[in-house]
Parts: sequence; C-alpha cells; structure tokens
Amino acid sequence: MNILIVDDDKVTLSLLSKYLKRQDHAITAVSDGSQAWSLVQQRPFDMVISDWLMPELDGIELCQRIRNASLDYYIYLILISSQDTRADIVSGLKAGVDDYLTKPINLEELNARIEIGQRIISLEKRLKKNYQEIARNYYQTIHMFTQLLEVFDKKLGGHCRRVGRLCLQLARMHPEIDQGQYAKAEAAGLVHDIGMVGLPVAVYSKLSTEFTSEEKELFRSHPERGSLVLEQVDMLKPVARIVKLHHEQYNGRGFPNGIDGSQIPLLAQLVGAASFYDDLRFLRKVALDEMAQHLQRTRGYQFAPEIVDMLLEININIIEKEKATNDRSVEIDRLQEGMVLSRNIYLKTGAFIMSADSPLGNDAIDKLKQYVKLKAITDRVYVYKDSSRS
Ligand SMILES: [Fe+2]
Repeated sequence: MNILIVDDDKVTLSLLSKYLKRQDHAITAVSDGSQAWSLVQQRPFDMVISDWLMPELDGIELCQRIRNASLDYYIYLILISSQDTRADIVSGLKAGVDDYLTKPINLEELNARIEIGQRIISLEKRLKKNYQEIARNYYQTIHMFTQLLEVFDKKLGGHCRRVGRLCLQLARMHPEIDQGQYAKAEAAGLVHDIGMVGLPVAVYSKLSTEFTSEEKELFRSHPERGSLVLEQVDMLKPVARIVKLHHEQYNGRGFPNGIDGSQIPLLAQLVGAASFYDDLRFLRKVALDEMAQHLQRTRGYQFAPEIVDMLLEININIIEKEKATNDRSVEIDRLQEGMVLSRNIYLKTGAFIMSADSPLGNDAIDKLKQYVKLKAITDRVYVYKDSSRS
C-alpha cells in the first residue's frame, strides 16, 4: 500500500517508516501536517497515518481537510496519539478518522489495523470499478437507443444525436447545472424523441403547422410514449421524467401537462430548447444568420430567457466557425446554377463523378439530383462560399 506517515517526533517517524517498509508498503514520511496536506493534494495515497499533536497543522485538522477535499478515491486515516480519553476518540472519529491508535505504539497492533484498512480500501476500489462498469453500461444502453432510432429513421436519429450534443453543451454553460448532471442532460437529449418510434413518418418529419388534427394528436403523445418506454429501466427513470416534459413551455402553453417555467425541470427545458434549435436548422432549414430572430421570438415565452441567450451564443460561435472555412455544405436540392464545387464528388462505390472547382450548370445539378434519387451519393455537396448566398 501507498502510505503517508506524518509525525513531528523524528524517532517515531523513523521507527514506523522502517517497520512498514519491511512489510512491503511504499512509505512517504514527513514531519509536519502542512507538508502532508500539500502531498495529499499532489498525489494519491491509500492511507495516511498521522500523529495528533503537531505544531501548526495538527492531525485532526489534517484529517478534516482530507475528508472535505473532493478526491475521487478514499484515503484510510489512522490517527496516533497519547490522548485516549473517550472524548478524544470521539472528536477524532468526528473529524473523519477511520481508526485510532494510542502511544506507545504496539507494532503488531498497528499492522493488524493497517490490514483492516487494506480490506476496506480494496472493497472501495472494487465498488468503484463496479460503479464505472454500471456507468459504462448505462451510456452504451443510451447510445444503443439512439442507434436504433437511426435505423428506424435516419433523420430522427440524427436529430436526437445532435440534440444530445447540444444539451451537453447547454448544461456546461448553465450556472445552475453542476457537473454531476451533464451525463443526464446528454442522455435525455439523445433519447428525447424515442416516443416517435412507431408513429407515422409525417408526425416527425412535417412542420407542426402542416399537421392534420390526427397527426397533431399523435405528435403530442410522443413525450409520454417515450417516457413510458424509458421508465421501465430503473436507471433511466430520471431521464424518462425529462423526456416526458421536454415539450412543456416556459409560459405554460406546452404539453402534456401545461406547467410553466417554475415547475419544468431545468434539464427538460434544455432538451426542449435544444430540440427547437435543431429543428430550426435542419427541419425548417433556417439559415444561421436568420436563427437569432427566430430564437428571440421564443425568449421568455416558449423558453427561459437565459437558455435562449445561451443558444444565441452557441449560434454566433457556429457562424464564426463557418466563416473560418471557405466552403459550406449545401443540400443538392438547393443547389443553384453558378455555384462552384469546393470538393470532388464520388459515388458511394468510390467512383469519381465530378471535380472540385467545377461551376455548376443546370445539367450538372440535374445529374447530381439523379444520383441522389438512386441513393448513389449523399444528399449534400460542398461549394465555395463566395460562389453562393449563405
Ligand atoms: Fe419532441
């Protein structure tokens, strides 16, 4: 084990060090509490054995600091002292100490107590490994759901994948969301529209203004349908609740419950806003520089003002990033005569069909549309920005 020993009495320090090295432990020995505290912050130890009474930083204070530090592993703490009244022991334990030894130290007893610590540390390590395994499975399950969505419908799956990414980005920006919630935010975004599975294509590919009354009703059912599926897995119950509420609105005019901003969980608000942004860009095909005016209309109505402000910031960053490149991707259906290809076009089989720097005439555009119909190429190509309106 990796053990840090702290004692201002040089004789005790040397005796303990030599003895524990002989027991095959890796020993670091220091003679004051402050030095020990700075070492604990720099590198990991399995165990700290500390004297109680030391000048400046004493053993109790050292143990308290270690327990209050947000370390991502457990350090087993043994306090050594000549103070052995019940009150002393209680105050030591309250400081987060795991075990307590009184001077003069019996080395065999010390060894036995170190073995207890070793058992607890190995249990803690096993627990941590199991937890990481569970967390890994959890993410794999979520990603599997998204892949299934993509198999069911490529556009819907792509929407969910992008919304997951955007939710994570929003969660990181939001001051009221702590790090522990980031994974939940991303997971909820990734599966938020899982309730669309099994519904007619029109329900998730049409604009809501084009819905028939039956389609509208089906659309409004998808948050609850999704939530019902997800809540069957215990670990996904918190995500299910977010999914159920992702179409609620800040002004209380959403569905299914019509609750307002004060009652909608923050993560559900993020998912709703991220999904709206993605629909604007990829379903309604709103140009990036027109996004701000669409978003502004929702500020304080559909979504909380601070969330809209974050989306506006993200949108500006995307515009800046796009400006840094001299080409952009355009859907083949939206190509116009005179645009100039910035990259070669190949069939999915790898065969070359059109070269970069070719100005597009109507014949070439028709040819590309034919290839898309045959599913021989993807539906987007890259053109130089200065050859097209953005
Ligand atoms: Fe939705």
